[in-house]
This record gives sequence, C-alpha cells and structure tokens, in this order.
Amino acid sequence: MVMCSSVVLLMIVLALDAAIITSAVLHTPIEDEEAHALLSWKRSLSHFSNASDLHSWNNMSSPCIWGGTVCNEEGSITVINLPKQALKGDLMHFNFSAFPNLAVLTLSYNKLNGSIPSLIGNLSKLTVLDLSINGLVGSIPAEIGHLSKLTFLELSSNNLTGSIPKSLGRLINLRDLRLRDNILEGGIPSTLGKLENLLRLDLSGNFLSTDASNVTNSSIPSELSQLARLQLLDLSQNRLAGSLPSQLGQLQSLNILYLYSNHLIGRIPSSLGQLRNLTVMSLQNNLFDGEFPKELCELTLLQELRLSTNQLNGPLPPQISQLKSLLILDVSYNSLIGPIPLQLTSLIELTQLYLRYNRINSSIPNELGQMLQLEVFDLASNNLIGPIPSTLGSLTKLTHLFLQNNRINGSIPKDLWSLPNIEQIDLSQNRLVGKIPKDYCNMEINPPVINLTNNMLTGPFPSDPENSSPQLFREHLCLKVRNSPSSKIVHHKGSTKTVMLRGIIIGISLVAVCMVSVLFWALVFLFYKQRMSNKQIGAAARKHGNIFSIWNYDGVIAYEDIIDATENFDFKYCIGVGAYGSVYKALLPSGQVVALKKLHNWERENSTFDRSFANEVQVLTKIRHRNIVKLYGFCCHPRCSFLVYEYLEKGSLFEILRDEAEAEKLNWKKRVNIIKGISKALSYMHHHCSPPIVHRDISSNNILLDSKFEAHVSDFGTARLLQPNSSYRTVLAGTFGYIAPELAYTMVVTEKCDVYSFGVVALELVLGKHPADLLSLLSSSTYHNIKLKDVIDPRVPLLTDQQSAQSVASVVAIAITCIHSNPRSRPTMQHVFNELIVQGSKFSESFCQISLGQLSNLEITKNENKR
Ligand SMILES: *[C@@H]1O[C@H](CO)[C@@H](O)[C@H](O)[C@H]1NC(C)=O
Ligand SMILES: *[C@@H]1O[C@H](CO)[C@@H](O)[C@H](O)[C@H]1NC(C)=O
Ligand SMILES: *[C@@H]1O[C@H](CO)[C@@H](O)[C@H](O)[C@H]1NC(C)=O
Ligand SMILES: *[C@@H]1O[C@H](CO)[C@@H](O)[C@H](O)[C@H]1NC(C)=O
Ligand SMILES: *[C@@H]1O[C@H](CO)[C@@H](O)[C@H](O)[C@H]1NC(C)=O
Ligand SMILES: *[C@@H]1O[C@H](CO)[C@@H](O)[C@H](O)[C@H]1NC(C)=O
Ligand SMILES: *[C@@H]1O[C@H](CO)[C@@H](O)[C@H](O)[C@H]1NC(C)=O
Ligand SMILES: *[C@@H]1O[C@H](CO)[C@@H](O)[C@H](O)[C@H]1NC(C)=O
Ligand SMILES: *[C@@H]1O[C@H](CO)[C@@H](O)[C@H](O)[C@H]1NC(C)=O
Ligand SMILES: *[C@@H]1O[C@H](CO)[C@@H](O)[C@H](O)[C@H]1NC(C)=O
Ligand SMILES: *[C@@H]1O[C@H](CO)[C@@H](O)[C@H](O)[C@H]1NC(C)=O
Repeated sequence: MVMCSSVVLLMIVLALDAAIITSAVLHTPIEDEEAHALLSWKRSLSHFSNASDLHSWNNMSSPCIWGGTVCNEEGSITVINLPKQALKGDLMHFNFSAFPNLAVLTLSYNKLNGSIPSLIGNLSKLTVLDLSINGLVGSIPAEIGHLSKLTFLELSSNNLTGSIPKSLGRLINLRDLRLRDNILEGGIPSTLGKLENLLRLDLSGNFLSTDASNVTNSSIPSELSQLARLQLLDLSQNRLAGSLPSQLGQLQSLNILYLYSNHLIGRIPSSLGQLRNLTVMSLQNNLFDGEFPKELCELTLLQELRLSTNQLNGPLPPQISQLKSLLILDVSYNSLIGPIPLQLTSLIELTQLYLRYNRINSSIPNELGQMLQLEVFDLASNNLIGPIPSTLGSLTKLTHLFLQNNRINGSIPKDLWSLPNIEQIDLSQNRLVGKIPKDYCNMEINPPVINLTNNMLTGPFPSDPENSSPQLFREHLCLKVRNSPSSKIVHHKGSTKTVMLRGIIIGISLVAVCMVSVLFWALVFLFYKQRMSNKQIGAAARKHGNIFSIWNYDGVIAYEDIIDATENFDFKYCIGVGAYGSVYKALLPSGQVVALKKLHNWERENSTFDRSFANEVQVLTKIRHRNIVKLYGFCCHPRCSFLVYEYLEKGSLFEILRDEAEAEKLNWKKRVNIIKGISKALSYMHHHCSPPIVHRDISSNNILLDSKFEAHVSDFGTARLLQPNSSYRTVLAGTFGYIAPELAYTMVVTEKCDVYSFGVVALELVLGKHPADLLSLLSSSTYHNIKLKDVIDPRVPLLTDQQSAQSVASVVAIAITCIHSNPRSRPTMQHVFNELIVQGSKFSESFCQISLGQLSNLEITKNENKR
C-alpha cells in the first residue's frame, strides 16, 4: 500500500540520505574497468553536445554517479542511456567486452557513423538495444542473434545495408523489432516466425524483396503467421512482390497492419477477415485485384481501411454496413463499379470517405446526409449522375466536398452555403445549371475555396470565368451582391461582439483557473519544497531515497489499479522509452486511459533524474491549461516511481513528422492549429502564471497531440519558476538543436529561450523536419532568395487556397522573428499568440512567389512601425 503518512516517510528519507552520502565514493575493481572503457570511448568521440551527460564523465568519480549511466548494487554498469547528445564517432572504439552486466544500451538520435561491430554479441545481459537515428552503415551483424535476453531491438533510421540476418530468429524473448528506414534488401527471413513473443515488427521503408536464395511466389514468408502475439506488423514501403499468404489470417492479436507501397499482387485474401482485433489496415499503393473482399466487413473494430491505388473491381459489397467502427474508408483510384451502396449510411462514425477515380455510376443518395460525422467526402472523377441532394447541408462537420468531374446536373442546393466548417468545395466539370446562390457571399468568416468552372451556371461571373482564380471569382460575384444594403451587415456586427465577449470570458476564467490550482496545490507544494531544500544537501549520490509519496490527486486513481492495469509495468504496455524512463499506457478500471512515466526500476537512481522528477511535479501541479499535459498524480517509492498523466493518443509531434503516413494526414490547417496551441500554452506560462514558468526544453519531442491533433506541451523536467527581477543562471538544459544560442555563453534563463525553441518547432512543422539546414543559412544571402514553396513539407499538398497559404506564410514570418539571435529582438509569446490569432491578409503575391527574405523583411517593418 503506498498511500502513506507523509511525515513519517519524510523522516525515513532524511535518515537514508545521510547514510548514502557516506557510502557513495567507494570504488570497486569492476567500476574501474568499466570506467576505463567508457572514458576511452569518450576520448574517441569527436563531438558531443554542450548539454551531454558526457561532461560528467571523469576519472575522479565512480561511473555510477555519472550522467546517463546506472549501476547495480555491486557497482557494475547496467544502463548506458545517451540519446540526443549529438555524439559523433563510432562504435569501433566501444569495448563491448567490458560490460558484463549491461542491460540497456540506448544511443539513439546521435551522429554515430561506421558499422555495428560484431563484438556487440558479447553483451550477454542486454535486454534493450536502441541505436536508431544515427548514421550507421554496413550490415546488421549476425552476432546480434547471440543476445538471447533482448526484448527490444531498434536500429531504425540508419543507413544499414545487406539483408536481415536469419540469426535474429533466435531472439525468442524479443517483443519489439524495428529496422525501419534503412537500406536493407533481400528477403524477410522465415526464421522471424520463431519470435513467439513478438508484439511489434516494423521493417518498413527498406528495399526488402524476395529472398534470392529461395524463390517462392510471395516475398512475405507464411511463417510470420506463427507470431501469435503480434499486434503491429509494418512491412510498408518496400519492394515486396507476389501475393499475400492467406495464413496471415492467423495473426489473431493483430491491431495494425501496414503493407502499403509494395508490389503485392493477386486477391486480398479473404482470411484477413479473421483478424478480428484489427483497427487499421493499409494496403494502398499495391497491385491487388479482384473484388472488394466482403469478408473484410467482419472486422467490426476496424477504424481505418485504406485500399486506394490498387486494381480492385466490382461493386462495394452491401455488407460494408457492418464496419461500425470505421472512421476512414479510402478506396479511391481503383476500378470499382456500380452504385453508391445505401449501406454506407450505417457507418455513422465515418469521418472521411474517399471514392475518387472509380467508375461509380449512380446518383448521390439523399440518405448520405445522415452520415453526420463526415468531414471529407470525395467522389470526384466517377460517373455520378443526378442532382446534388440538399441533405448534404446537414453534414455540419464537412470540411471538404469533392464532386468534380462527374455528370451531376440540377442546381446547386442553397444548403451547401450554410455548412459551418466547409473549407473547400469543388463542383467543377459537371452539368450544373441555374444561378450561384447569393448565400455563398455571406460566408464571411472562413470563406471556402470553391471551384465551379466547366458547368452551365448563370450569374454575375467575371468576364472570363474559365481563367479566373477562385479568389477573383468570389470577389467579382460578391461585390455585386454586397452593393445592395442588407440586414446581413447588422448581423455581422452582432457576431463580432459575441466573439469579443467570449474572448474576455475565457481570459477571466484562465486567470481564475490558474489561481484556484495554485491554491489547491499550495499545501502539497509547500511540503514538497521543504523536502526539496532538505534534499539539496546530498543531491549527487542518493540511493533508495525516493520513498516520499503523495497520492490521490482526485481520489479516483489508486496505486494498485496502475499495477494491475499494466501487469506490473509489463513491456507490452510500453509506448516509448525516454531519457529518464519509459512511458506506459494504462487502461484503468474506471475506463480512463492514462500515460505513466516510470522512472527506471534500477536500484540506484541518478541525480539528474531525481531533479527532473521533482521539477516536473513542482511545475505541473501549479498549472492547468488546455494545451498543457495534465498531471493526475505521482508516486515515489523505492520499488517504482512514476508520474500519471492524461493520455494523448497521437503521441509526439516528432514521431508524427517522422512517420510518412501520419505526416501526410497532418494538413496545413492542423499544423497551424498546433502552432497556435503551443503559443497559447507558452503565453499562459510566461504571462498568466506568477511567478512565470519557463519550460526550457520545448522541442517536437515534447509536444504531444491528442486525437484531434490539438497540441499539449509536456515534459517539464527542466522547467524553471522565474522569480521576478532575478536572472537565473543555470547549467545548460534542453534539447540539442532547439536551444537558444545565448544560453551557450550567458547561461541566463529568460522567457526568450522558450521563444527561440518555439520558433524552431514552428519551422519544423512547416518544413516537416528540423530546420537545421535553414538555420545554418540564416545570415547568408542565398537564404533571402529561397522560395517558401521550395522548403515547405513536400508530403502535404501544396497550398491552393489563399487562406491557408496566408496563415502558413505568417507562421513562417513570426517563426523567423522568434529565432533572432538577439533575445531582445524576439517577440514575447503573448505577442506571437496575438499575431497568430489575428490573421489578416499580409501578402499580396501568390504563395509560390513568396521568398524567405520577404517574410523576414515583413516582420522587421512591422516591428519598426510599432516603435
Ligand atoms: C585523469 O584524467 C586527467 C585528464 O583527463 C589526466 O591528466 C590524468 O592523468 C588522469 N588520471 C588517471 C589516474 O588516469
Ligand atoms: C576491453 O575490456 C576488457 C575487460 O575490461 C579488457 O580485458 C580488454 O583489454 C579491453 N579491450 C580493449 C581493446 O581495451
Ligand atoms: C565518421 O565521420 C567522420 C567525420 O565526422 C569521418 O572522419 C570518419 O571517417 C567517419 N567514419 C566512418 C567509419 O565512416
Ligand atoms: C566475445 O564473444 C565471442 C563469441 O561471440 C568470444 O569468442 C570472445 O571470446 C568474446 N570476447 C570477449 C573479450 O569476451
Ligand atoms: C544515408 O545515405 C544517403 C545516401 O547515400 C545519404 O544521403 C544520407 O545522408 C545518409 N544518412 C545518414 C544518416 O547517414
Ligand atoms: C524456402 O522457403 C520455404 C517457405 O518459406 C521454407 O519452408 C523452406 O524451408 C525454404 N527453403 C530453404 C532452402 O531455405
Ligand atoms: C504459390 O505457387 C504454388 C504453385 O506454384 C501454388 O500452389 C500456391 O497456391 C501459390 N501460393 C500463393 C500464396 O499464391
Ligand atoms: C482482442 O482484443 C481484446 C480486447 O483488447 C483482448 O481482450 C483479446 O485478448 C484480443 N484477442 C487476441 C486474440 O489477442
Ligand atoms: C452502371 O454500370 C453498370 C455496369 O457498367 C450498368 O450495368 C448499369 O446499368 C449502370 N447504371 C447506371 C444507372 O447507369
Ligand atoms: C478548377 O477546376 C478545373 C476543372 O476541374 C481545374 O482545371 C482547375 O485547375 C481548378 N482550379 C483550381 C484553382 O483548383
Ligand atoms: C558549445 O559551447 C562552445 C563553447 O563552450 C561554443 O563555442 C559552442 O557554440 C556551443 N555550441 C552550442 C550548440 O551551443
């Protein structure tokens, strides 16, 4: 039982602290050997970041108190955890024979090059090996197959070549195998079918094809069907050919199946209908033919079904109505025929329906107006006939309506112009007649982009309608209409007032919430602070220290529930491994899903971690904000220390931008909204909390997204409360690549450090990757001539509508001011937030013409006008 009497515990803690300080400085021979091996590897590295843990490695102290390492009770190293430290060098100089007890080796997100030495097979106790996101080359050594204790093997995003060693089939404890985004070729070894504990297999983004030594008619070995516990199978973006083995239907635990962008042929096996736990199936961009298998309709948990860009023919089966959980159905770019089945209307959860480029030849059923969750409705380029049903006006969530290039006739129903969320309507190339309804011009707040060309419409058209842009078209049409005075103008004034009023109410309640939460946590906080100051005496080397616990944020979550829900932190609930611990997902008996950040369960903790834990609690208990991750509670106990947060479905921005499929889904509107969300959170922390809070580690890793792609700032492990009139001097913290340049020489923390990191993240969202290349060009003249269109994320369709284009351009303009090398020239977060919500038309030229130089100048002129 962990709900303990705090006062008694505090006394125990203090007693332990004293005991530990005296014992920490002793060295053992094994420590010396391991220290020697690590120091000589450190010397071989040509670079590491200013914030690297390696700065604490020296021959004067035990490696057990260095940053990034953890020892067991005998003083032998069990963990080496050095992600994101800009390490440059190789693994040839790492003495793999010197660490008999090493269980965790994490060197991800660095710049290690050279190959993986086969001696790595000597780390016989290794359970976690993560070398992802480096520049490693050469082949995967077969000796990795000796690491029989491995549960997690992650080598993604390197330049590894050759084939996948058959010996990996010996790693029977493996739960998670990730080799994505390398240059691996050859076949998928059938031995992988022996990995009976595997939960996740990710081989995507390689050049895997057929095993040349054993030519069969499928590149996917049927042995994979023996992976009875597998939950995620990702073989997408390879060169897999042949047909899909029907045995894959035996993967009963599978949740997610990605096979898209390969050369797979033949029928989609009907056996896939047996994968009853499947929630996502992505088979698009292959060469599958035959009819849509009606057996797939038995997948009642399926939320995403993507079969586009194949050669499917025949009609959509009526059984499709059984896919009750479906959110996204994409069967575009096939050869489907027949009518739109009325059964589609049973899919009441559906948000996106893509049927573009098929040969559907019915009229659009009135009943589709019942699919109230629809956001995207794409029936372009089919053979649709008949009129547009006015019932589509009931689809209040609709943002995109594509009906172009069909044979639709009749007039445009007035109801389409009252859709509150619509962004784009394309009705071009049809046989529409009649007048364009005036209601279109009343859509003032967010005018959608519409395309009506190539129809038989009448009305106040521009003289040359065929060659007019939608903007010109709208201007022309609506000027004519607005010239007659109407009651609509009064209406608009009214609505502005409401908006302002709402703004004020939100402002007041924000301050109120901040105050209430400060009061609510006052007791907790004071108590914790006292404990913190006591603790600073012996911060460096404490052991078994964290017995202190506060629990019951709301009395609903109990310690036992967490242990039950995660089967005592079983790896299968792990959704990520971070610098200080692992993150788990837990479904509580109440039905609530929470995320747990668990500090490693090692006997000895290191002080960095301890500080970070305390910080996070201290800061997060003070604040409540829609765009800041919520802390529900925490537990400190020698057996396990963890923090309990709200769970955010989409994970980190970093992961999403790295994932091709997810990044494509993140359209410009969502991206701009995320940037607004982050600025809102930071503006709140800097300007509405007293004392102000500086996050100090804003990076795409620490921005989490919920199911609606709303941003939540997380990871307050390095945050600071700024006392008024004090300039905090500090050791460097933060993530390499996001740290404000002045921190390297002044070490003075101000809000402007967050502003800089925010600017980097905003650019990262627009570019789709870290803007390192752009930053290095900032002062050069080439930079000024770079066109915005050439640097934006190529995975998202180029901006066609003026409004999104304007908002992306102004985001970039603001981001550029945020990364100004002089902190005083950076705007405040409050200013940034205000700029982002008030978006007027700032750019007269078309999006394709805008250059970065123009955007920088724009902001400079604006700032000067203000002075
Ligand atoms: C410790 O390191 C310093 C410099 O890194 C070196 O000069 C010194 O000789 C080393 N001492 C031992 C005992 O290795
Ligand atoms: C690697 O470490 C082992 C054990 O400490 C030692 O015997 C060996 O000499 C080391 N090898 C190198 C190349 O330093
Ligand atoms: C690793 O990169 C460095 C430059 O950073 C280069 O000098 C070295 O040759 C590279 N090593 C290998 C094995 O590619
Ligand atoms: C490393 O492992 C190999 C077998 O994989 C063994 O032959 C060798 O002796 C080991 N080396 C050391 C230094 O332990
Ligand atoms: C991998 O190789 C490609 C092409 O040779 C190169 O452009 C890229 O920079 C390399 N990536 C890394 C991480 O070394
Ligand atoms: C060839 O592949 C089949 C099916 O994957 C397997 O049963 C067989 O053992 C393999 N043969 C060789 C020689 O590897
Ligand atoms: C592979 O080919 C053999 C005969 O060539 C055939 O019997 C078998 O069904 C084929 N397998 C698949 C998955 O198409
Ligand atoms: C399917 O999912 C349910 C609920 O998550 C789970 O209880 C069940 O064990 C899963 N089935 C298999 C075969 O994994
Ligand atoms: C749709 O196409 C099918 C097959 O080409 C044809 O049999 C049917 O009559 C067509 N329906 C309409 C309404 O044109
Ligand atoms: C409008 O539709 C026509 C015909 O489909 C197309 O050629 C044109 O490019 C579209 N215009 C815009 C701005 O999308
Ligand atoms: C790291 O610190 C050195 C001086 O100590 C400085 O020259 C360099 O610019 C810093 N690098 C970064 C990325 O902050």
